[in-house]
Amino acid sequence: MSANILKALGLTETHSGTYLGHGEWSKTTDAGVLESHNPATGELLGRVYASSEADYETIITRAQEAFAIWRTTPAPRRGEAVRLCGEALRKHKDALGSLVTLEMGKIKPEGDGEVQEMIDIADFAVGQSRMLYGNSMHSERPGHRMYEQWHPLGLVGVVSAFNFPVAVWAWNAFLAAICGDITIWKPSPKTPLTAVASMKICNDALNAAGFPDIFFLFNDARTELAQKFTDDKRIPLISFTGSTTVGRIVGERVANRMGRSLLELGGNNAIIIDATADLKLAIPAVVFGAVGTAGQRCTSTRRLIVHESIIDEVTQTLVKAYKQIETRIGDPLKSETLMGPLIDRDAVNRYEHAVTQAQAAGGTVLTGGKALEGKGNYVLPTIVNGIKGSDAIVQTETFAPILYVIPYKTLDEAIAIQNGVPQGLSSSIFTTDLRAAEKFLTCFGSDCGIANVNIGTSGAEIGGAFGGEKDTGGGRESGSDAWKIYMRRQTNTINYSDSLPLAQGIKFDF
Ligand code: UN1
Repeated sequence: MSANILKALGLTETHSGTYLGHGEWSKTTDAGVLESHNPATGELLGRVYASSEADYETIITRAQEAFAIWRTTPAPRRGEAVRLCGEALRKHKDALGSLVTLEMGKIKPEGDGEVQEMIDIADFAVGQSRMLYGNSMHSERPGHRMYEQWHPLGLVGVVSAFNFPVAVWAWNAFLAAICGDITIWKPSPKTPLTAVASMKICNDALNAAGFPDIFFLFNDARTELAQKFTDDKRIPLISFTGSTTVGRIVGERVANRMGRSLLELGGNNAIIIDATADLKLAIPAVVFGAVGTAGQRCTSTRRLIVHESIIDEVTQTLVKAYKQIETRIGDPLKSETLMGPLIDRDAVNRYEHAVTQAQAAGGTVLTGGKALEGKGNYVLPTIVNGIKGSDAIVQTETFAPILYVIPYKTLDEAIAIQNGVPQGLSSSIFTTDLRAAEKFLTCFGSDCGIANVNIGTSGAEIGGAFGGEKDTGGGRESGSDAWKIYMRRQTNTINYSDSLPLAQGIKFDF
């Protein structure tokens, strides 16, 4: 099965992890090998040769050459290149979605859904390629025109995480492409095959249509190249998705060289359910938010803040739903499966550690709390109550399906609990009370980058700007005007008069 999927995507059993441009994959075999294992079975899916320092330098040189051409290519023409990528992804959606499932472990509809996010951002970027608008301003001086324009930035570095192994690259790369930039990608070492496959699909489509290389790829067996990448002054923007711990280091290093960083770091997302909530909406939203992708989205629901008057009803209903999910844990490629495995043994250990810590803090495991014996990194989805929002484990993002349930009395208290964590990515309220909904969305409501009413915390559409505040890093990618970070803004003032008035009324006669 896995061999067929790899073959359909043009991958050999051991593939180069370095796309050097000019249609060429590196021949390097002595810089280490990344092994990709199926988290559902432990089976070795394939190997990817890591990149050497010489490969890295070749990529930078060729990316710079490509940038010289690409920045002068009209933006709508750049959009055409991205359109072709979107078309190619449509053709390969089933195979690439399956490979995401095989390599990352998310269920097949979510694997396909992730490829759909790539297609969606491609469509978005095509439209945006004709809308790289700058403002014009009225000059305070007569006979002067003032406006701003957006120029391509240069090379864009993308460091992505295992949990969205292909979509996060596309959000960055497709927008960067229409902005006139060249993207260099370092994927997670846990998911190198999906990266190679995405690169092949897009670059084959671009090469066939005669476009220059705009997407490059390298893989790092250790962390030396990744560090070099972060510190490389030739790369004006590093977009990093991953943990707050690593993101903080990346942000500091990039800032130190006056580069720009776009940080998409941890979330600790909460849903508030008030006493007026429609539970037929709220319950499925919580279950999908907490259990979907086995709790490995940065938008996964980790905390449930429930009005004390309905908390028993809500937890009992959730426990019943979780028991049903338990019967549908398994092979993520099978259509009946609702929850796949965690990415690796370390993730299982972190899950177990979090459960132990929650219990030590006085929490009660209402359901789940255990890893499954046997092959694959399976755990039971878990609900814990009797724990405070301020407990250390509740303040921490554990990338696993663990939900902490916390009671509240007043909406202000619920909002304070929701905001009372270091992270600030996604948040939701379930309510039919207009005042509560609106209050949640005010500047003194949710402090997150994403705040929803009557939908869950995960599964954001690409049309909005995606990202969060505080320890989530402050970056925004994907929709709205997130394209601006991939460009440099230039303010231009043109004097078309025959005198030279100074601004601020200054006279400087000599
Ligand atoms: C992530 O987990 O890094 O909103 C991204 C969502 C997806 C993206 C998640 N569209 O859940």
